Amino acid sequence: MSQSISTAQVIDEAGRRRTFAVISHPDAGKSTLTEALALHARAINSAGAVHGKGDRRGVTSDWMELERERGISVTSAALQFGYRERVMNLVDTPGHADFSEDTYRVLSAVDCAIMLVDAAKGLEEQTRKLFAVCRHRGVPVITFINKWDRRGRESLALLDDIQNVLGITPVPQVWPVGPAGNFRGIVQASDTEHMVRYTKEPGGTRVALEEVLDSAQAAEQEGDLWQEALEELELALDSGPGYDQEAFENGKITPVFFGAALTNIGVKLLLDAVVELAPAPGPRPLDGGGSREVTEDFSGVVFKIQANMDPAHRDRIAFVRVCSGVFERGMNVTRAASGRSFATKYASTVFGAERTVVDTAYPGDVVGLINASALRVGDTLYTGRKATFPPLPAFAPEYFAVARPKDISRSKQFRRGVSQLDEEGVVQVLVSDRRGDQAPVMAAVGPMQFDVVLHRMEHEFSSPITLDRLSYKLARVTDPDGQAELAKARLTDAEVLTRRSDDALLALFADKWHLSAFQRAKPDIRLDPLIATA
Ligand code: G4P
Repeated sequence: MSQSISTAQVIDEAGRRRTFAVISHPDAGKSTLTEALALHARAINSAGAVHGKGDRRGVTSDWMELERERGISVTSAALQFGYRERVMNLVDTPGHADFSEDTYRVLSAVDCAIMLVDAAKGLEEQTRKLFAVCRHRGVPVITFINKWDRRGRESLALLDDIQNVLGITPVPQVWPVGPAGNFRGIVQASDTEHMVRYTKEPGGTRVALEEVLDSAQAAEQEGDLWQEALEELELALDSGPGYDQEAFENGKITPVFFGAALTNIGVKLLLDAVVELAPAPGPRPLDGGGSREVTEDFSGVVFKIQANMDPAHRDRIAFVRVCSGVFERGMNVTRAASGRSFATKYASTVFGAERTVVDTAYPGDVVGLINASALRVGDTLYTGRKATFPPLPAFAPEYFAVARPKDISRSKQFRRGVSQLDEEGVVQVLVSDRRGDQAPVMAAVGPMQFDVVLHRMEHEFSSPITLDRLSYKLARVTDPDGQAELAKARLTDAEVLTRRSDDALLALFADKWHLSAFQRAKPDIRLDPLIATA
């Protein structure tokens, strides 16, 4: 640890950190909520500056052009802001309509997630998948039911869905006064004697005006709506186990908030919940047992690599979540996978197009290491006692395409590009005996990853390619015993055996029917989905 920073200081700084992400289906309001959260924390001057979809400032690269064309956010990493003596790190989850491995992996960098639900649409597909990843990784989840200012579903029905579809018990912390579309205000579960009433300021800012009424005033002014809110809240609380911090941290319950990010209703209470309920960075389990305490020497995990954010510099940024100790710019750290050390001369925080140089970072913080070309997603970095964090899970790809260079004289560029994209985890690259390594199979969790591959191969690696979609839908891995058996197995046209760059054998199947037929014929070969995501 640094000479100048004491253990007590690290404990204090780590205790102040809240590192979280917002998980949601596209259009549920993630950008709007991010702006509203940051507005409360005064990290930005006016809502709309974080990553408004329309007026995007500082569009500086080809990469961002792709981002702008698609209206997606792919370059951000983490937004840091101060709130109530805490340091909040909001880690951005790429919000495109399709899945990519990036979206999942970001969740390895956070200690808590806000699950954002559109009041009218309920639990949408991407929300369910991301929730499954949180559960898999033991990330506690706070629920925010958004857009209550618009017509939507009934509050109790939404809670039933959370219980029945996700299998986690919702415990309301606030209740809306008025149904979706007639949002009068909020009552807190901890204080049913008061209502916070919201009114829109005509023609003014988007932030709704707040007014606290006592229960007599609320009953007089809101009549039945106030009574109904109290009754529904009681019903919702009586049918559940009540709030319990341990149950929350163990993923058994999710505290629920209602609001409208657009008019800033309920956002402050949500932010307060992140401060009060979300766990601070704690000991992190190590590969092979034991854990790394936050007070130990520096350690961190690379959860995202972004190349060419700034084409003028052709740079490549590795985003690291600090897990223990203190990160100081310029320090020498060791990469666990190779045992090699390197100097972290260029370190910055990045959000959207903005960069700020970081000199010191504590557990929970995210730093971007620029031009750390040796780093890979999932890498552990450390000083002092060796640490290796468990590998990030690889997710079962569901989309497959064969890549071929358009110009075979550029095969060197082609190979370099393919291996770079593989290392970055943009796609998984699979090689089949049938096609050989001149025509590798790109495997993706979502089809948008293919757009990224096409774009980057052409513009970054100067090797335009064609991608021909294959009709496989399922990928399965096997254990070491199964590998030899699988290699010998005779496959039909609807099945193919491929090898990933980490040497794992993956069998691809056209559909469930072929998979089960194969399993019936070869019951001894254990086939696993890489992870259950739905
Ligand atoms: P995303 O990042 O999750 O994709 O969602 P985003 O914040 O862009 O929000 C999607 C749409 O939902 C936007 O409208 C946004 O204004 C709206 N929205 C977000 N929160 C609320 C809310 O609390 N209440 C209401 N009524 N609407 C909300 P849009 O018309 O698609 O875009 P824009 O023109 O408003 O930017």
